[in-house]
Amino acid sequence: MSMAKAENGPPHLAFDRVEVYYSALVAGLKGVSLSIERGEFVFLCGQTGSGKSTLLKLITREVRETKGQVSLLGRDLGQLPDREIPYLRRQMGIVPQDYGLLPNKKVWENVAYAMRAVDRSKREVRAKVPQILEQVNIMHRADAFPYELSGGEQQRVAIARALINDPPLLIADEPTGNLDPTHSAEIMALLSRLNEQGTTIIVATHDIPIVQRLQQRVVELEFGTIVGDTAAGETWSPNISSAEYTTFEEKETDYQFDGEEFEIYLEEPSPEAAAEETGEPTHEEETPRA
Ligand SMILES: Nc1ncnc2c1ncn2[C@@H]1O[C@H](COP(=O)(O)OP(=O)(O)OP(=O)(O)O)[C@@H](O)[C@H]1O
Ligand SMILES: [Mg+2]
Repeated sequence: MSMAKAENGPPHLAFDRVEVYYSALVAGLKGVSLSIERGEFVFLCGQTGSGKSTLLKLITREVRETKGQVSLLGRDLGQLPDREIPYLRRQMGIVPQDYGLLPNKKVWENVAYAMRAVDRSKREVRAKVPQILEQVNIMHRADAFPYELSGGEQQRVAIARALINDPPLLIADEPTGNLDPTHSAEIMALLSRLNEQGTTIIVATHDIPIVQRLQQRVVELEFGTIVGDTAAGETWSPNISSAEYTTFEEKETDYQFDGEEFEIYLEEPSPEAAAEETGEPTHEEETPRA
């Protein structure tokens, strides 16, 4: 979906003096004000524990602000009734830090379910799934289960799933955290292309070389506050010494899945219910064709 940058109207996202306290003593964010316009590409940088995931989870309403206000297209997310949260999440592509893949579903099913959740037709699913799997370079593993994939491969499936509905907003938490430099560059090129087509993109990352190369806007967090906001086109260097950032080699590779948590995104229909509803054969009988 292409979304022209609006001259008037509210920003895509606005954070107004947002504080998140996980407990009396543990702060996720301590007074963050930030505006992100439609069509922007924003990197969120900062060392581990600085509040990047907390900021992203406010947008998906996995976390609620303790103080302040978070608005999406002018709508106060803190006031959103719980029952509207699934609808909110369908308006965005989400790549969680832990991938959130359904462990008992094959690669192509993981992606197809995201389309099912927004009522796309069987024909659309058949056409689009192979296309997006090709795009993130994982089509050759379409019939694998997540546990049969490497961390980087799982990451690409998570990205495919987030992109499948052409969301106007894409939120990615460390989308290259488990990829080698070549695959990281490919994923970032894909995100850049999407952004050129109008998608607003927010990426939390530790990957300093990539951030410096892409020359997009960089918002830097430290201990839950914004310590830097560098405009696109300007050269960025970390406020904190780069040694403080986790490097690719140090990243945890043994990720855990949480199918239960993921269901809140997809509201996965049971296989029986899905088959009954659509008359679609089960995956044993069919895989999508390119
Ligand atoms: N569910 C939670 N309960 C309690 N404290 C939390 C929770 N989630 C995050 N925190 C705390 O909030 C702070 C910010 O965490 P957050 O996950 O936002 O950091 P981050 O910048 O994403 O880090 P990383 O780079 O390691 O992913 C940290 O001190 C963290 O321990
Ligand atoms: Mg995080």
